[in-house]
Amino acid sequence: MSDLKPFYVRDPWVFDPKERPKARAEISPGFATRCLHAGFDPRQSMEEFRSFVPPIVPSMTYPYTKPDEVPCPVYGRTRTPTNTVLEKRLAALEGGRACLSAGSGSQALFQLIFTLARPGDNVVTSLNIFGEGYKQAASIFPERCGLRFRFVNDPGNPEEWASAIDSKTRLVWVETPSNPCLFVTDLEAVAEAAHSRGVPLLVDNTTATGALQQPMKLGADIVLLSLTKFMAGNATVIGGAIIGPEGLIEDIRWNTTEFVGSIMPPHDAWLMLQYLETLPLRMERHSRNARKTADFLSAHPKILQVNYPGLESHPQHGLAQRQMNDCGGLMSFVVRGGKTGAVGLMQRFKLIVQAVTFGTSRSICMHPATITHEHLTLEEREKAGIDDGLIRFSVGLEEPEDIIEDLDQALAGI
Ligand SMILES: Cc1ncc(COP(=O)(O)O)c(C=O)c1O
Repeated sequence: MSDLKPFYVRDPWVFDPKERPKARAEISPGFATRCLHAGFDPRQSMEEFRSFVPPIVPSMTYPYTKPDEVPCPVYGRTRTPTNTVLEKRLAALEGGRACLSAGSGSQALFQLIFTLARPGDNVVTSLNIFGEGYKQAASIFPERCGLRFRFVNDPGNPEEWASAIDSKTRLVWVETPSNPCLFVTDLEAVAEAAHSRGVPLLVDNTTATGALQQPMKLGADIVLLSLTKFMAGNATVIGGAIIGPEGLIEDIRWNTTEFVGSIMPPHDAWLMLQYLETLPLRMERHSRNARKTADFLSAHPKILQVNYPGLESHPQHGLAQRQMNDCGGLMSFVVRGGKTGAVGLMQRFKLIVQAVTFGTSRSICMHPATITHEHLTLEEREKAGIDDGLIRFSVGLEEPEDIIEDLDQALAGI
C-alpha cells in the first residue's frame, strides 16, 4: 500500500506585521453610506438582471464554457454572487481587505483557529470571551487538535498579554466589550504587545459592531463578527464573518469551505444585506436606550452592580470613551439575592423576554451562570465576573420609558 500524496496546493498564510488593513484614507465614504452601497453598484448590474437591490442567487453550482479552466464562482459551498456582495460590504465596514461569511460566529472562530494553528501551537486570550468561544478554547481545540489556550489573569494589563506570548503563539484574541461582563480591553496596547512579537491580533467586534468601534484602526489585523446579534438585529438570521488580510481569508476559505462545511446560505446573506442598511440608526437608538436604562438600574437599591461602559462607574469608562463612538445596547447587572434574586426578577418581566441571544430589536435577558458560562469553574467564574445574581440584558428599541417601567415593576416584586 502506498502513502497518500499530500494535495495541499496553497501556501499557508504567514502573518506580516507590515501588511496593515486599509488606511483611513482608503476607507470612504462614511460608515452609514458603506452600509448602503459597499459591494454593489446597481448601475453596473448586468443588463438582464437590472436591479436596485443586490440579487439573491441561490444556485449552488455555476455553469461554465471553457472545460479546461476553473470558473469563479464554481460551487456554492465556497462562493456565491450574493455572498460576495455581503463579504465586500462587511470588509468595507470594518476597513479590512477581505471577508469570509460563515454559518455562525462560532463557526467563523473555529474556521480561523483551525486554519491558523497546528498541534503544539497556542492562542493567547482571556476569560472575557463568549461561552461557546470558551468551550472551543478550553476543550474542543486542546482535546481534539492539540492546541493550548493561555488565559491572561489581568486583561487590563498589557504586559500580561505580552508575557503570555511565546514562539508557539499564533494568535492573540480579544473580545471587547466582552459578553456578558462588558470588560473593555485596550486595543492599541494589546496590538502593540502582539505585533512586537510578530503575532496577529484578532478582535471580536460583535457587541459593538463597526458602527461603534473600528478595531482595525486601533491595530487589529483580524475581526470576528457574529452576524446573529446586532448586525442582523432581529433574531431571524444565524451567521458569522471573519475580516482580514486577503491571504488569510483565502486560506480559511480553501481549508474550511472547499473540503469541509460551507459559507452562509445565500438567502440569509441577502437578508443580512437588508438588515445592515439600518445598522447605524439601530446602534444609535440601542445606545441611547441602554444609557437611560443603566442610569435607572445603577440608582436602584436592589441592584448591586451594573456593567455598562457608558457609566462613569465602569472601571474602563475612560478607555471606552476613547476607543468607541458610543457604548451600544448590551449590559449586565447583578441583582440582590444571588441566583434566587435573578430568577425571581426574570420571571416577573412582562415586556422583556428571556431568550439566548442579544442585539435584538426587542429587549431580551438571560442568566449566564445557567446558560452560557456554566462550564467555567467557580474560580474562573469569579475571575470573569459571572456572579450567580448576574443577568445579561440586551436593551432593545422600545420606548426607554417602557423598558424602565418593566424593570421597575419586576424589581418591586422581589
Ligand atoms: C461576542 C460573541 N462573539 C461570537 C459569538 C458567536 O456567535 P453565533 O451565535 O453566531 O455563533 C457570540 C455568541 O454569543 C458572541 O457573544
